[in-house]
Amino acid sequence: MYILGIETSCDETALALIETRDFGDTFECRVISSLIHSQAELHSPYGGVFPTLAKREHEKNLPLLLKELMATNSTVHIDAIAVTEGPGLEPALWTGIVFAEQLAKEWNVPIIPVNHMEGHVIGSLLKSDAPQGEWQSLLPLNMPALALLISGGHTELVKIEHGEEQARDTSSESRGPEPAKRPQALSYTIIGQTKDDAVGEAFDKTARLLGIPYPGGPRLSALAQEARSEKIESPVKLPRPMISSKDLDFSFSGLKTAVLYAVRDAEAAGKLDTSFKKGLAREFEDAVIETLSAKLRKAIDQVGAHTIIIGGGVSANTSLRAQCEAIAAEYGIPLYQPSRHISGDNALMIALAGAFNTPVNRALKAHGTKRLGN
Ligand code: KG4
Ligand code: ZN
Repeated sequence: MYILGIETSCDETALALIETRDFGDTFECRVISSLIHSQAELHSPYGGVFPTLAKREHEKNLPLLLKELMATNSTVHIDAIAVTEGPGLEPALWTGIVFAEQLAKEWNVPIIPVNHMEGHVIGSLLKSDAPQGEWQSLLPLNMPALALLISGGHTELVKIEHGEEQARDTSSESRGPEPAKRPQALSYTIIGQTKDDAVGEAFDKTARLLGIPYPGGPRLSALAQEARSEKIESPVKLPRPMISSKDLDFSFSGLKTAVLYAVRDAEAAGKLDTSFKKGLAREFEDAVIETLSAKLRKAIDQVGAHTIIIGGGVSANTSLRAQCEAIAAEYGIPLYQPSRHISGDNALMIALAGAFNTPVNRALKAHGTKRLGN
């Protein structure tokens, strides 16, 4: 079955086409095409994503991307459309949903609504070394699994278990890694989350304080790397918010405020130079990674996790990836991080989650009767 994925929750307009083979308990997929058009540069002058502009750009870009995708796949008959229904920016989400509804009507195919955060989870189960176009099964999950989801809008620790359907299946006595089950059989429980800013948001806001335009996360991280290789120490010590709290929650707004004061003080003293910025970027990144690592360890212990999944745009961060690898090695459990080209928002993860999550017949039943939205 061929599935078209649509993602417009924020400032990336994305379409993807995958083919799946469903064997009931497991399924295989092959990536045919994944197109992403980033609006980041357009939003840069606003210091963040400007929803009305995002909506207009999605409306403009969706038909162009579809044309591009169809140009090389004109003979493909699409069986279903998976579209992000939330969470995200309302006007941006609606653009994708309305586009999906129009296509669904025109092609007479069902729509599969997909949760964006589940998309980030399932996207990380795609093998990074599998060549485009080749059949693959998703990476095996040892349950319970734990996902650390870190993006511009979310910071969550999620416990993943077999859902009702799998729990009822007591005949399976297998002890080893199991093929990833269809996610309708997965259940998600948020066991920790941010109380204020999301981690990507904290990266972007801190970058802005250092004069780096939106989205500053990747460039702030690059500055931190330069500080490490040039052995530039931080001029100040930043807090590690909630690092010792008993719960699994996060808070990043205090960190950003501490950066604000450090920048103000340095400016007043005439010390706000490149070296200062690099040192501060390094300290900020260290503070974030130490906090995320401490909570990740605590969550692994609490859940008794047998698999770790990292997902969301911040998972592109090189130091964080290395730290997560070290933690997984320490616990001796598999770690799945998304390939870099799909660490940010993309439609491939939406198509995959849609295919993996929703049995075709359920989507077919819903076809024509369900209006999406959140
Ligand atoms: O998942 P995503 O693409 O969009 C949302 O769903 O929010 O995440 C985007 C976030 C932005 O805040 C961006 O600055 C951050 O991910 N990000 C990074 C890096 N690459 C992207 N943050 C830190 N280091 C990076 N290398
Ligand atoms: Zn995202």
